[in-house]
Amino acid sequence: MTDVFEAGIFRGKRAFVAGGSSGINLAIAARLGSLGAQVGIFSRSPDKVDAALAMLHQNGVDAAGYTGDVRDYDAVASAIGQFAKVGNGIDFVVSGAAGNFVAPAIGMSPNAFRTVIEIDLLGTYHVMRASFEHLRRPGASLLNISAVQSSQAIPLQSHVCSAKAGIDMLTKALAVEWGPSGVRVNAILPGPIGDTEGMRRLSSTPEMAERIASAIPLQRFGTKAEVANLAAFLCSDAATYISGAILTCDGGQLAGNPTGVVG
Ligand code: NAP
Ligand code: COA
Repeated sequence: MTDVFEAGIFRGKRAFVAGGSSGINLAIAARLGSLGAQVGIFSRSPDKVDAALAMLHQNGVDAAGYTGDVRDYDAVASAIGQFAKVGNGIDFVVSGAAGNFVAPAIGMSPNAFRTVIEIDLLGTYHVMRASFEHLRRPGASLLNISAVQSSQAIPLQSHVCSAKAGIDMLTKALAVEWGPSGVRVNAILPGPIGDTEGMRRLSSTPEMAERIASAIPLQRFGTKAEVANLAAFLCSDAATYISGAILTCDGGQLAGNPTGVVG
């Protein structure tokens, strides 16, 4: 298939991807890298970071890995500082580390609720805050990874709904504060994306996956590549007037008709 992006458009650019060792975030790191960006990925597990780096290197991406927890501000700041120092700044930052499990609000402990808020929302604040001083300004593009839970209440997801709604508003708040320095801040809001840890946790049987897919206007799950293409667009010169936006990549899910009934 012909690539819709011109080869090498991100040559000379540097992208840091928090939570970039697997799934959607790794696909974004690979996409930005395939278009020429130097990439830094960050997550907790050294094994996952090593495996992701091996994949990126195999595909010709210039990538470095860092381990740490987004809940630990010093670890985040240290990794971002090291990545920035190697190449004299950062152009693109993706904040996508997240935790999810299925649990009723009354059936999870306060610590369980806090854990997801701290990974998703506080972690995103940490990544954004630690990046700011290293951004090449004007022109930097920051992307937070939201989810349909930010805008549609889903049972057994009160922790994720709250965290992702916070990420959406943090995205807008930072777009307003940082816009004058030439930094764009947007969020990507994926719907159900196939072959991901997130969907393995949310749809435990093929029947459930089928039911979720049939309620989506486009009648299928999205792909990691489709989300990665949106990320590439938002970092590109085609998106230089887009900031403070929460862009869905959800097959029309948030457009409405949750019943799936026609007529
Ligand atoms: P995933 O593969 O589990 O990706 C999560 C990544 O975050 C992993 O690399 C994980 O690596 C890292 N991570 C988790 N906790 C962390 C922490 N405390 N500190 C640092 N890194 C941490 O899941 P995914 O399904 O691709 O989801 C990726 C993003 O897309 C998430 O923000 C998710 O909410 C969003 N999303 C997913 C879907 C979907 O259908 N899958 C839909 C909407 C939105 P380590 O374990 O090594 O830390
Ligand atoms: N139901 C209810 N509570 C749960 C739970 C579940 N399925 N899984 C974990 N918890 C609770 C734990 O019991 C603990 O609470 P407690 O101390 O009161 O017992 C709290 O959540 C923290 O769990 P812990 O395992 O210590 O957290 P962690 O920081 O090691 O891991 C998670 C964070 C729980 C979010 C883990 O699932 C994770 O690392 N996820 C990352 C991958 C992921 O979720 N990918 C999909 C992204 S959409």
